[in-house]
Amino acid sequence: MSDSLRIGLAGLGVVGGGVLKLLAQQRPLLQSRSGCRLEVVAVSARERGRDRAADISSLKWYDNALDLAGDGDIDVVCELIGGADGVALELSQAALGNGKHLVTANKALLAHHGNSLARLAEDGALNLGYEAAVAGGIPIIKGLREGLAANSFSGVYGILNGTCNYILTEMRDGVRAGSPRDFDTVLKEAQELGYAEADPSTDVDGVDAAHKLALLTSLVFGCPVDFAAVRIEGIRHINPLDIRFAEELGYRVKLLGVSRASAAGIEQSVHPCMVPERAAIAHVDGVLNAVVTEGDFVGTTTFEGPGAGAGPTASAVISDLVDIARGLVLPTFGVAVSELVARPSAPPGSHVGSYYIRLMVVDRPGVIADIAACLRDQEVSVESMLQHGRRPDEAVPVVLTTHVAEEEALARALGAMGELNTVLETPRMIRIVNL
Ligand SMILES: NC(=O)c1ccc[n+]([C@@H]2O[C@H](COP(=O)([O-])OP(=O)(O)OC[C@H]3O[C@@H](n4cnc5c(N)ncnc54)[C@H](OP(=O)(O)O)[C@@H]3O)[C@@H](O)[C@H]2O)c1
Repeated sequence: MSDSLRIGLAGLGVVGGGVLKLLAQQRPLLQSRSGCRLEVVAVSARERGRDRAADISSLKWYDNALDLAGDGDIDVVCELIGGADGVALELSQAALGNGKHLVTANKALLAHHGNSLARLAEDGALNLGYEAAVAGGIPIIKGLREGLAANSFSGVYGILNGTCNYILTEMRDGVRAGSPRDFDTVLKEAQELGYAEADPSTDVDGVDAAHKLALLTSLVFGCPVDFAAVRIEGIRHINPLDIRFAEELGYRVKLLGVSRASAAGIEQSVHPCMVPERAAIAHVDGVLNAVVTEGDFVGTTTFEGPGAGAGPTASAVISDLVDIARGLVLPTFGVAVSELVARPSAPPGSHVGSYYIRLMVVDRPGVIADIAACLRDQEVSVESMLQHGRRPDEAVPVVLTTHVAEEEALARALGAMGELNTVLETPRMIRIVNL
């Protein structure tokens, strides 16, 4: 590497603006750490005239971001536009195809095209850096790939979406303060505060967390990225009642990305979970993210920190730039692409664990016996049961937790419960994850 690393920046929004600002403010530190100057030489965004986080008047401007890939003065392209396809994909392919390193914060892009982009990077002996794509400022890619390279993993668990974690934290605070707020109310507040997008579906329906989980799974289990294999359930149906019962039972509700290896295959899922209050991850609140890994020699490791925002994300992007400036070329998913081994996905319903169930029932004699019979018929045993108050002939919540059972059997039991004429709403189930 020469005395400077020449960067082409595509996208000057939250992340791109943060990168410009950080590079300007940390210039001497970064120079001494990377052994050369990190220099943005060209930029691209949609609107040239827009106010930016730093002065770009002296930089080369491209209306078409793809031109960055053809600029011979650029060593590395930073793709900070977003989107799984379109310009982000074309630019990434063209940059690697033209012998330029690529740094991206784009988890959607990598969840869908990570395998082919990793192959392109490897063919050109180039670095594909994506530290910012998973859990923002937490150095989880380097943590797993470099720091924990000596371990085999049995699983990885994460709070991977700050918007969902913020909403669930606020809902819990409301319950604790005695003024419960439902999902829609808290979502609206989160949008007003800028913690949720105007269209929140990618976040609250679990898709963003699933993109990140697919990348972590590849790193942890040495398999190609398989986003289609992630089972996804978001948080829209979480009710303050469930949060209140979780409190009472000693759990907190978190949207977790979970990837585990079992006899049935690799299980990748994003869903709301009950996490025991004693677990470190139960106390990761607000917009923070966390990742827990289980390595065979290191044991359980918990990483926690800010998962989004200009500063944390720029910090991650620039850590990749420093790697490149130091001359490091690292295997994208921890091993050479040819060594990634596809593993079967665990079939739906094969998950084995314990569960929280909430039913709204008419409070009549015999109801509990009927519910218990549905579970008994599927050989699911009950660990605990809660019912508050008695209001004959009115709907009251009944909550059960189960011992370990196969999810398929539990689903059959829930189906049978739903058929009882004393059960008034679709039974709600939340997995219990004993971290
Ligand atoms: N925001 C975060 O905290 C965060 C955290 C982790 C990862 N990420 C990821 O980082 C990426 C960028 O996110 P962001 O929040 O910075 O987005 P953003 O604020 O919406 O910025 C997007 C930037 O891309 C530019 N752009 C859009 N279409 C373009 C095109 N066709 N050609 C050239 N430039 C184009 C926009 O230009 P104009 O400014 O002219 O409109 C804007 O500067 C995404 O992949 C996101 O998932 C974001």
